[in-house]
Amino acid sequence: MKIFLDTADVEKIGKYAAMGLVDGITTNPTIILKSGRRQEEAIKEICKLVDGPVSVEGVEEKEAGMVKDGVKFSSWAKNVVVKLPMTEEGLKAVRALSKKGIRTNVTLVFSPTQALLAAKAGATYVSPFVGRLDDVADDGMELVRKIREIFVNYGYKTQIIAASVRSPLHVAQSALCGCDIATVPPDVMEKMFCHGFTDAGIRKFKEDYEAAGKR
Ligand code: G3P
Repeated sequence: MKIFLDTADVEKIGKYAAMGLVDGITTNPTIILKSGRRQEEAIKEICKLVDGPVSVEGVEEKEAGMVKDGVKFSSWAKNVVVKLPMTEEGLKAVRALSKKGIRTNVTLVFSPTQALLAAKAGATYVSPFVGRLDDVADDGMELVRKIREIFVNYGYKTQIIAASVRSPLHVAQSALCGCDIATVPPDVMEKMFCHGFTDAGIRKFKEDYEAAGKR
């Protein structure tokens, strides 16, 4: 499974990219706000750090504005992917941009039928929001499994990005159900490295190594 980082924090991106762990980046207006940077400047820097797709999102609500934005975003770097909301206008923009050879990521997906429509419109990626469904006592991962089943049933090439990931469990569940990509916030990425038994095991081996050296 590919791992994208759901962040515009260039220090974190650089750190994990140097380890070979980053297959792409997703951003949204909230993430850009948190970065404290201007969108264009941040995206251009991120695109230099990561070869994989970098999703960029605007706030236009009509097809014409979305397409204009999409063309502008994709002029910033060759690996930019245009993120569009799951609306009728958003899907019109998906179609228009894909005709221009521009890749798209349909975001704010909360149902299997939304994902089906996005795939039919020609989206490169769909982003079901797992955590936000869990937040309202729905089952976010179940949505990912359903979308995967639909895409496999009919051979859609659209890739599924598990988004709104809140824990390493979401990442593991995504990988287990054959989801193409999980987009992971840096705090979740940090937790993915850790296990208390690993730390305890290292401590014990060190103690035993030192004790053996005293023989
Ligand atoms: O990139 C979109 C998505 O990952 C947002 O996550 O935590 O704001 O629901 P969250």
